[in-house]
Amino acid sequence: MKLNEHYFELTESYLFSDIARRVEAFAARHPEQKIIRMGIGDVTRPLPPVVTAALEEAAREMGKRESFRGYGPEQGYPFLRQAVADYYADRGTVVSPEEIFIGDGAKSDLGNILDLFSPDCTVLIPDPVYPVYVDTNIMAGRSIIYLEATGQNGFLPLPDSRVKADILYICSPNNPTGAVYDRRALQTFIDYARENGAVILYDAAYEAFIADPELPRSIYELEGARECAIEFCSFSKTAGFTGLRCGYTVLPGELIFDGHSLQKMWLRRQTTKFNGVSYPVQRAAAAALSPEGRGALEENLSYYRENARILADMLKNRGVFYTGGRHSPYLWMRCERGMGSWQYFDWLLENAGIVGTPGAGFGKNGENYFRLTAFGSREDTIEAAGRMLLL
Ligand code: MLT
Repeated sequence: MKLNEHYFELTESYLFSDIARRVEAFAARHPEQKIIRMGIGDVTRPLPPVVTAALEEAAREMGKRESFRGYGPEQGYPFLRQAVADYYADRGTVVSPEEIFIGDGAKSDLGNILDLFSPDCTVLIPDPVYPVYVDTNIMAGRSIIYLEATGQNGFLPLPDSRVKADILYICSPNNPTGAVYDRRALQTFIDYARENGAVILYDAAYEAFIADPELPRSIYELEGARECAIEFCSFSKTAGFTGLRCGYTVLPGELIFDGHSLQKMWLRRQTTKFNGVSYPVQRAAAAALSPEGRGALEENLSYYRENARILADMLKNRGVFYTGGRHSPYLWMRCERGMGSWQYFDWLLENAGIVGTPGAGFGKNGENYFRLTAFGSREDTIEAAGRMLLL
């Protein structure tokens, strides 16, 4: 037996596991300290009643002989795929239910989609960015080129036509910087992908936070995207599904490379390795997209947006440079007092009992930056802002 030695090229542990371990150690040393967690982007608002009602009802159905369900369709139940298609249609974007694949969250699908591509592909990944893109490609031994996102380009780098890549990652609104690509910038990526026969993996997990109708919420709003882009989205951040687990991936029929349909390949992959998301969870997700559910999601969004505003006001007050917080639940701040990002992590935890995410964990350009999330409770957010103002 030979191990996959690419695993030894990874950092010792996944970013958020590393943070959790450090926070646990701190908590053990300071049992008296109330720690405010604004590290991992985990939501705090409970599931809306319309969602829990659907979960309960589906659980009851599973307990009756006449409505019990065993294995479901690997691609997801038609009722949920239709609900997702309607969610797109309401924004004027046409995506058919056949192109939608229900999964257990964007993270899994973003990792699993790589089964479709050769380990010889070259990957273009923004730096800083959600660490899953880098780690999953390192695991497969792919060579990675980084797209430098810096304060100078507003953390919105564009592909360079002289650099050749086969797989491009875009996360917009961006995790961690909160920066959002406009239509013109996204079109540049699409044009690059079409010229180079490349595929775009578009992470839209935070699309619902976009408040400006001029900014694209789906890459399919752009010309030519259906021929080159796969889109990933999630119920986690708006409907509170981080614990329940449900997301979806869109693969349009036009994604044909070397005469092969990516949609067919993905279906083949999913039917072989995946048995679908549980029926009650899919019912819960469909309820989240119902008219009543959408109202509840809007309330969640307003709540988290207000938290972001509170944190942004605090940073302005302190004269700290930051991005995000407007069309994003993340605030990306420059570390204070010239500190490095892990140094600032320790300092903030020691001096204010606040946990954030060190920017360096998202890539080398994240050094000297720090990410705060607006997903906390209102009370904790106000308290954290108050504690930081006193530093
Ligand atoms: C984050 O904090 O970056 C996210 O919560 C991680 C995730 O969505 O997997």
